[in-house]
Amino acid sequence: MSTVVGRSDFARDILYVYGIVTWATVVIGLVVGGALAWVLVRFRDRPGAPLPAQTRGHTLLEIAWTIAPALVLLVIAIPTIHVIFRTQGAVARDALQIRVLGRQWWWEFRYPTLEVVTANELHVPAGRPVALTLDGPDVIHSFWVPQLGGKRDVVPGRLNRLAFTAESPGEYRGQCAEFCGTSHANMGLRVIVDAPDAFERWVAAQKATPAEPAGLAAEGKAIFTRSACVGCHTIRGVSTGTLGPDLTTFGSRGTLAAGILPNTVETVTAWLKNPPALKPGAKMPALGLTDDQARALATYLLSLK
Ligand code: CUA
Repeated sequence: MSTVVGRSDFARDILYVYGIVTWATVVIGLVVGGALAWVLVRFRDRPGAPLPAQTRGHTLLEIAWTIAPALVLLVIAIPTIHVIFRTQGAVARDALQIRVLGRQWWWEFRYPTLEVVTANELHVPAGRPVALTLDGPDVIHSFWVPQLGGKRDVVPGRLNRLAFTAESPGEYRGQCAEFCGTSHANMGLRVIVDAPDAFERWVAAQKATPAEPAGLAAEGKAIFTRSACVGCHTIRGVSTGTLGPDLTTFGSRGTLAAGILPNTVETVTAWLKNPPALKPGAKMPALGLTDDQARALATYLLSLK
């Protein structure tokens, strides 16, 4: 999660201001430090030395050290204000609209125009502007993917916006950056920037109806449909819960539990046995599944691609 390797227009705008502020402070630091060192050496106390000339009420000096900081602030303020306005401005008309919901402690991503809903792994196409609208149902979170742009708070009842154009395909880590409770530190996310055709394929895969499972996965589906799972999770064509992440294409995600674990049979099984043990405070309770039941359910969930 590097803040100094920008991979979007927004991140580069911030880096530009960051560079100006950094170099301005480096120059100021050198000038002040150098002057201090010179004064310490030049006017140090020597045995028998007379008191150096004393300066009081020097109008020119006072004007100079009032104007100099004002000029420094001006040099920093002009590009800063420019970038603030540019990154808050109207988004491109062809921008891909995505709604981001921060939840304790995971992320929901909805693509209203594509009719896709996913969690924790945000896919966006490279080279196309995306316009995020951030909101949430519980407490304040903050959406932060350093290589793609600055943080933006996710405030319940208030729509915040964040727009950027990712430059090239890649995977970028993000993190909730506003303390939001027990598992704030475990509220990660990933942004996967796809080439445009790969993004189209991803969308098509998200919209496809999952194939009817067989074998162990079919057992898992039976467990899913008769358990409390259906009350909180949506799997298209199977259940319609909305409290937890949409699992329709759960198996297509690389990570589990807001990016803290790899998405494998072992980790999903362990998660299903006891979610709060892996993510403290997780709203999903232990369901009292046996090892075999948890494994069957994990196999089913991972088959959803
Ligand atoms: Cu969500 Cu911190």
